[in-house]
Amino acid sequence: MRVLVTGAGGHLGHAVLARLRDDGVSVRATSRRPRTGSAVEWVVTDLATGDGLTEAVAGMDAVLHLASSPRGRQTYQVDVLGTRRLVVAAGAAGVQHLVYTSIVGVDRVPIPYYRHKLAAEQVIAAGQVPWSVLRATQFPQFLDDMLTASARLGPVIGDRAVLAQPVDPAEVAARLAARLVAGPLGSIEEYGGPQVLRFDEAVHAWRQARSARRPLLPVRIPGRLGRELRAGGLVTEALPRGVRTWADHLADTYGGPRQR
Ligand SMILES: NC(=O)c1ccc[n+]([C@@H]2O[C@H](COP(=O)([O-])OP(=O)(O)OC[C@H]3O[C@@H](n4cnc5c(N)ncnc54)[C@H](OP(=O)(O)O)[C@@H]3O)[C@@H](O)[C@H]2O)c1
Repeated sequence: MRVLVTGAGGHLGHAVLARLRDDGVSVRATSRRPRTGSAVEWVVTDLATGDGLTEAVAGMDAVLHLASSPRGRQTYQVDVLGTRRLVVAAGAAGVQHLVYTSIVGVDRVPIPYYRHKLAAEQVIAAGQVPWSVLRATQFPQFLDDMLTASARLGPVIGDRAVLAQPVDPAEVAARLAARLVAGPLGSIEEYGGPQVLRFDEAVHAWRQARSARRPLLPVRIPGRLGRELRAGGLVTEALPRGVRTWADHLADTYGGPRQR
């Protein structure tokens, strides 16, 4: 099977390339800038303009669509219109399966980025290429980066009752690789980490792992956004789940025990 991976240089992309390499899959990978190295063929594409897309999808059996622009004005251009450009190009090239990586909660949590991800799911479902969508929960590095950035200013600020379910990107990559083998689902599946944590529990473990003294300054996120986040808008009951915990991530990153 020949697979195109968009956004292959990103966080999840690294895990996906490693997984597909181990599985012996022939991979072409996209980035907006020229890249070399690793055992894949890199091609330059830009979803915001469509540049390079026709060449990228030519001869591919499947596409794993990971590219995304979560921040700034580019989100609609890249995630919605860029996904549409990709679907059209893939359809014209006779691609047999398009797998899209989305996020648990895009249909519930009122964040502009999530609205765009939901629209991208709908673009894929309406397109002519047989499809699958995998909604994953947050990667632990995302939560870690958020806490690190917040703590630079002093206390860690957050709503302690928000629920999170960090999932290891390598396990998401394995799930995506399995979906490629199984073929198009024509629907949405969800995949989350092994534990649902309250924000204050996650912060407590993070502080211990870093021997940090930063206190948690609790704020209550107002409105519908806060209600959804506290009610579990970002978590899923779907099975199976990943096995690597937030504590595993902290132990790998900062050393120390793997508390569970
Ligand atoms: N982070 C999370 O916690 C999380 C959780 C669940 C699902 N997801 C989803 O998983 C996917 C991958 O997430 P990630 O954390 O790996 O993201 P990431 O590290 O930000 O990587 C996304 C990649 O998209 C590419 N990209 C950005 N703008 C582009 C454009 N105009 N044209 C083509 N490529 C463009 C970038 O590649 P170049 O710079 O090389 O062009 C970038 O490396 C996303 O769809 C995300 O929504 C993420």
